[in-house]
Amino acid sequence: MNIILVAAECAPWSKTGGLGDVAGALPKALARRGHRVMVVVPRYSNYAELSDTGVRRRYNITGQDVEVTYHRTYIDGVDFVFIDNHMFHHIEHNIYGGERVEILRRMILFCKAAVEVPWYVPCGGVCYGDGNLVFIANDWHTALLPVYLKAYYRDNGLMSYTRSVLVIHNIAHQGRGPVTDFSSMDLPGHYIDLFKLYDPIGGEHCNIFAAGLKAADRIVTVSHGYAWELKTLDGGWGLHGIINENHWKLSGIVNGIDVKEWNPQVDSHLQSDGYSNYSLENLQTGKPKCKKALQKELGLPIRHNVPLIGFIGRLDDQKGVDLIAEAIPWMVGQDVQLVMLGTGRPDLENMLRNFENQYHDRIRGWVGFSVEMAHRITAGADILLMPSRFEPCGLNQLYAMGYGTIPVVHAVGGLRDTVQPFDPFNESGVGWTFDSAETNKLIHALGNCLYTYREYKTSWEGIQKRGMMQDLSWDNAAQNYEDVLVAAKFHW
Ligand code: GLC
Repeated sequence: MNIILVAAECAPWSKTGGLGDVAGALPKALARRGHRVMVVVPRYSNYAELSDTGVRRRYNITGQDVEVTYHRTYIDGVDFVFIDNHMFHHIEHNIYGGERVEILRRMILFCKAAVEVPWYVPCGGVCYGDGNLVFIANDWHTALLPVYLKAYYRDNGLMSYTRSVLVIHNIAHQGRGPVTDFSSMDLPGHYIDLFKLYDPIGGEHCNIFAAGLKAADRIVTVSHGYAWELKTLDGGWGLHGIINENHWKLSGIVNGIDVKEWNPQVDSHLQSDGYSNYSLENLQTGKPKCKKALQKELGLPIRHNVPLIGFIGRLDDQKGVDLIAEAIPWMVGQDVQLVMLGTGRPDLENMLRNFENQYHDRIRGWVGFSVEMAHRITAGADILLMPSRFEPCGLNQLYAMGYGTIPVVHAVGGLRDTVQPFDPFNESGVGWTFDSAETNKLIHALGNCLYTYREYKTSWEGIQKRGMMQDLSWDNAAQNYEDVLVAAKFHW
């Protein structure tokens, strides 16, 4: 099959979260299965390794004539194509930033230019073309692509073999705006029905995600748990009606992890400053070295037996940082160390700094985003906390398990799918979960976890090993995606 994945971000070039990781890794896994695979992404900066394809196209964007160029590189069996226009440049460090109307213009341009790539951009000398082609669009930013595919091509009998799949990584962002937004999209008048939505929060409005979900041939979301939540009033964020109407199109596929990037045995961030690579075989010697190195790097007291708890993530409501904040008075009475890494809401960033000042022998709040620190915390910590209010998939708990770091999570979305709770009676499970996003529930789960850490070393090691032995790679997920792509093409 020819597969073109289209996304607003793609690691390592651009990444604000898990979407970037998925766009960087899933295509390679699909290519390993023998497909011809391309990724299309905006060119936010002058990435060194790209070559100009020489292709130039012009698009009308809200009355203005705009030219884009297409740049390309080929890595691990995948064609990466970058769409270039000055609109993408000044947002390099804030790719979803700017005025609503500006964001909308960028997304319209990107989707118009992306849907034409199979015709105009030769890769290895040959264009992908229309035959046997499936687009995979991701989140609201590229939800216009299935709509353009339908309106510009399929309705006119063109690209009639091409299908589209839209992946939901996070339904909370939808590209909502006034109904007048529709006029900037260059679509036939009757298409407004796809976009117009009424809900008690937004009233009557224009909703890009809604239109994409209706136009796409199939919908995927990043876990089974989240697929279920999307159908509920609380989990669907106003789109549950559309999800329910289209539930026959919907599949849940848990993300994998890039095992070249996240593997304690070869992790390059563990090769200096006292850290050490390790695996199942030398877990009991290698991981403690990482813990010691982390304590040293952070200036925390170097103590082998103190439970070291990590949190890595955006500082916002979704990630439940406020629950951790409320649990801190209890935690500091427990003789634990806590390190939190992330950026986000300024008040939460300040809170992290204040905790660090107040409890200097116990807590570190690292405000910023450091890939290296994320790897080192994942390796050096004993426990990873993820009290997310909602979590479509979540990748950090997967990374943690691969590193023998035990997750304590709110059992929601992908966290519920991937963290089977520890059962002391038959020594099964890979972490601890709590069933509602409340501080006392978090404390209860973390309390049980700490108790096991201190009193039941053998059980603890069993949990670590079971976590590490799981196959968390993309290979499984890629196979499931392949099934959906085949269904999109052949089952009507
Ligand atoms: C979003 C979700 C996260 C998921 C990621 C990749 O960032 O919030 O749960 O893991 O997308 O699919």
